[in-house]
Amino acid sequence: MRKPFVAGNWKMHGSKAFILNLVTGLNAKSSELKGVDVAICPPSLYIDFTKRSLSTEVIAIGAQNMAEEPHQGAFTGEGSASMLKDLGCRYVILGHSERRAIYGETNSEVANKVQVALDAGITPILCVGETLEERESGIMESIISEQLDAVLGLVGIAAFKGVVIAYEPVWAIGTGVTASPEQAQEVHAFIRAKLSGLDENIAAGVVIQYGGSVKPNNAKELFGQPDIDGGLIGGASLDADDFIAICKAAEI
Ligand code: PGA
Repeated sequence: MRKPFVAGNWKMHGSKAFILNLVTGLNAKSSELKGVDVAICPPSLYIDFTKRSLSTEVIAIGAQNMAEEPHQGAFTGEGSASMLKDLGCRYVILGHSERRAIYGETNSEVANKVQVALDAGITPILCVGETLEERESGIMESIISEQLDAVLGLVGIAAFKGVVIAYEPVWAIGTGVTASPEQAQEVHAFIRAKLSGLDENIAAGVVIQYGGSVKPNNAKELFGQPDIDGGLIGGASLDADDFIAICKAAEI
């Protein structure tokens, strides 16, 4: 039985005052969270502040990105896996479509980062997903396969015991357009079947989140699909009431 997992991706939003207010709201409602794993991923500059503001163990901390380079050194502006670990991060979002599209992260860089995170004892949330153009031209499955194959080829299927996958159709991110529960389920089932071809047990245990305009009013239907195990939440994770409502919609 997979335990649902909901993570908030705050992206580049917030300030100390904003975060204190948001985390105060989360602290107050955290006792309502049962039967769901929950994490919040602040901008790295605020990870420590956010962690210190949290008064509950129920909500874990994650990062939104990480250096590909495993060791400390002359890499101006970067932050390493061991630094995230030091700050108390349990998760790191890797290969988000914004990192791929805006910063040109390639499948092989994402794969290297997954390996580095795993080596550091941090659970990667590996994002995969197609653009609208790719979906409409019928290459959605091959795009998602390539994104997964790069990682599988480097770390191997056994390592997916410690990997969370987030399916995020690029056309649904921040657009207010959600994949229908059926559309999302179809891709989640495809991902699980692909992994199942390599190792049935591991595939059955991998948590696959859905991301892309998840809101309190559509979360339950999405999370009710057999292969959707929670969500990666952008905009709605910046509001404590909305985020908690979404987490509760994933509870088993
Ligand atoms: P959204 O973002 O919920 O604002 O669409 C999701 C994501 O990018 O992780």
